[in-house]
Amino acid sequence: MTFVVTENCIKCKYTDCVEVCPVDCFYEGPNFLVIHPDECIDCALCEPECPAEAIFSEDELPEGQEEFIALNAELAEVWPNISEKQDPPADAEEWDGKPGKRQHLER
Ligand code: SF4
Ligand code: F3S
Repeated sequence: MTFVVTENCIKCKYTDCVEVCPVDCFYEGPNFLVIHPDECIDCALCEPECPAEAIFSEDELPEGQEEFIALNAELAEVWPNISEKQDPPADAEEWDGKPGKRQHLER
């Protein structure tokens, strides 16, 4: 079992999540974060910290977010680790909750 970062993180990237993770299993891309499924210990601490409500347990994913299980696993292998909060993008609030952000994921 693992937690998964889903679509609404894209272009919001608030990074509050990384501060509470006891095993530092977040990895950072240009405009999205992912969780390494083999490192996550399922503690659930990060889920309520995300202002964009983008983090879910893999067995409670909202409909349409299933592809993010594989995307988290894939990108956690290639992106660098992140364990300190950063400033979000200046337009993060504008993007929060916008539909169809999947197409904006940068690798
Ligand atoms: Fe880290 Fe716990 Fe969130 Fe997994 S559930 S990513 S271990 S804070
Ligand atoms: Fe993304 Fe939420 Fe973390 S927007 S960077 S999952 S706090």
